Amino acid sequence: MKLLEVKNLKLYYQSTRGTVKAVDGISLDLAKSEALGIVGESGSGKTSLSLALMRVLPSNIDTNEGKVILDGKDITQLSEEEFRKEIRWNTISMVFQGAMNSLNPVLKVGHQIAEPMLLEKTVNKKEAYKKSEDLLEMVGLPKEIFNRYAHELSGGMKQRVMIASALILNPKLVILDEPTSALDVSIQAQIMNLLKRFKKELDISMIFITHDIALSSDLCDKLAVLYAGEIIEKGTAEQMFGKPKHPYTQLLLASIPGLKQDASPKFIPGAPPDLTSPPTGCRFHARCPYRFDPCDKKPPPAFKIEKDHLSRCWLNEGDKK
Ligand SMILES: Nc1ncnc2c1ncn2[C@@H]1O[C@H](COP(=O)(O)OP(=O)(O)OP(=O)(O)O)[C@@H](O)[C@H]1O
Ligand SMILES: [Mg+2]
Repeated sequence: MKLLEVKNLKLYYQSTRGTVKAVDGISLDLAKSEALGIVGESGSGKTSLSLALMRVLPSNIDTNEGKVILDGKDITQLSEEEFRKEIRWNTISMVFQGAMNSLNPVLKVGHQIAEPMLLEKTVNKKEAYKKSEDLLEMVGLPKEIFNRYAHELSGGMKQRVMIASALILNPKLVILDEPTSALDVSIQAQIMNLLKRFKKELDISMIFITHDIALSSDLCDKLAVLYAGEIIEKGTAEQMFGKPKHPYTQLLLASIPGLKQDASPKFIPGAPPDLTSPPTGCRFHARCPYRFDPCDKKPPPAFKIEKDHLSRCWLNEGDKK
């Protein structure tokens, strides 16, 4: 059975410039122990999608609709109180984008890791601290780090602390929003290895958010490419890296340096559209080298390429099965 099914999720913000359609009809699913990569440029709606799943929303929400089905139950129907008790941190936890830089400077990191457990009040302080120490070791840090403060830790260590904190209540799903983007390359690799190990050993599902499609290749079983609030292509890692169908996915892959030694990396000209007035037709059409007649007029539906592989591009109309 699917662990998570998201159906036609929308999250729009109010702004002085108009309604920002940050998440505009997203559907995806995830099985137990599976890792799904969400890839997209800055501003494509990656964080908004994860905040909608965690129900951590700013006050200027215009629209928040769609279904989020977890273990067969639509969790959008839960009250805030039920959601807090049953879902947030317990079942779905998250490493927030940039959060390693907002660890509380006056609290010991071990206490901060244990905090969600202390708030639950189901175990005593001693047990919560023991679990925090165990988690520190699990994420590759010495137990002694428990008594340290955030300013005493490097970026990589702080990110390990954030991961430990997301694991404290044994969630079924962890959302990781750009967990390595502030780290240098060798530390990035260490964190990716840690995540790969957890996926295997802890039987945990992951949503791994990144702007770097190359980074998702190692960890993720499935990939969804986000463009201007919509998923424009999704499939298994094999399908997405082996036979990408959407020109945007193809361009993202061509932009990876060193993938083909004879070709220099390509960059994608132009900028993503303004989400207060997304273009008619395909949202990528203005930047697409292959655009043709219907592209600026009719939004392409998600064409099924093969099982599990969908692409929202008029070029793929003939592939419809
Ligand atoms: N609270 C808000 N109010 C209004 N607009 C917002 C708000 N939060 C995000 N946005 C807008 O929604 C769109 C999607 O933002 P989001 O942060 O989800 O993108 P992202 O893909 O996570 O980007 P990045 O890679 O830079 O983290 C952007 O246009 C952003 O400016
Ligand atoms: Mg973001």
